[in-house]
Amino acid sequence: MKKFIRCLPKVELHVHIEGTLEPELMFKLAKRNHITLPFNSFAEVREAYNFNNLQSFLDIYYQGANVLIHEQDFFDLTWAYLQRCQADNVLHTELFFDPQTHTQRGIAFATVVNGIDRALKKGVTELGISSKLILCFLRHLDETAAFATLAQAQTEKDKIFAIGLDSSELGHPPEKFTGVFTEAIKQGFLTVAHAGEEGPASNISDALDLLQISRIDHGVRCTDDPALLAKLVTQRIPLTVCPLSNIKLKVFAQMADHNIVVLLRKGLCVTINSDDPAYFGGYMSDNFLAVSEAHPMSKAELTQFTFNAIEASFIADDEKMRLNRLTQQYLEHN
Ligand code: ADE
Ligand code: ZN
Repeated sequence: MKKFIRCLPKVELHVHIEGTLEPELMFKLAKRNHITLPFNSFAEVREAYNFNNLQSFLDIYYQGANVLIHEQDFFDLTWAYLQRCQADNVLHTELFFDPQTHTQRGIAFATVVNGIDRALKKGVTELGISSKLILCFLRHLDETAAFATLAQAQTEKDKIFAIGLDSSELGHPPEKFTGVFTEAIKQGFLTVAHAGEEGPASNISDALDLLQISRIDHGVRCTDDPALLAKLVTQRIPLTVCPLSNIKLKVFAQMADHNIVVLLRKGLCVTINSDDPAYFGGYMSDNFLAVSEAHPMSKAELTQFTFNAIEASFIADDEKMRLNRLTQQYLEHN
């Protein structure tokens, strides 16, 4: 099963590029940019990655991002992630970036986007990996700051496909961002949002109703609301679930308690994703492996996660058909 999982064609829909910053690259960039880190070794970094909840992770994650200064740093970060994609047979990825984490420190919006975009373009030509970039607003900041970020995105619109919402969910419900999401939709962006990760199922319903989102990031708390669950099934509203993240951040005590396979078998459009792989112990294949070890599944069920991700992606229909055919062939011959 391990080989089947490693080679299975995959589509990733929930990864924060800042969350792919491995300690090795963090140290390299700190040295290059003359930044002092609060860690003396890789072992010390990894020791610090013991989280109690989402907030305890976010504090360290935003600190790590301080080493990213120049366009080349954002390029190197993204290129390293794409190489992980290649190793895991990820054919398409839709990745988040948090511009406010960088603009708040005085880094220009264009520096961030151009570095990421240059690596994504090289990913297409040299690795055959397609991608779409999603700009996330930080929900612990106010809506005025989100509007200012949307304004900064205007000159880089050709590089950004959709708008998302991340950071601390508790105390920052979807309704806080209704105005800016309405404006983003008017400008032609698709929308997604983190909801029902640590926060209640009502955040999922509100994100669907108020922010007009095309899919829900995390959404595992949907099981608390039977009517919502039924709606997700009948309308095939996708969830981008991040299993290793949910264990590291104690959304579930252990993988055996995770509801992803129950949701799959209920007919939800659930997908497997890595979220912040450098912090949570693994990339796409590691997430598939961890789920399948705790919840034995058939090859057809494992492959359904890829079919769901293709369906939930923002890829054009003809390309979706190509990926579906390729995935079906993989299942039939392995
Ligand atoms: N930013 C990076 N990872 C996140 C997560 N799992 N939830 C909310 N915001 C995030
Ligand atoms: Zn996330």
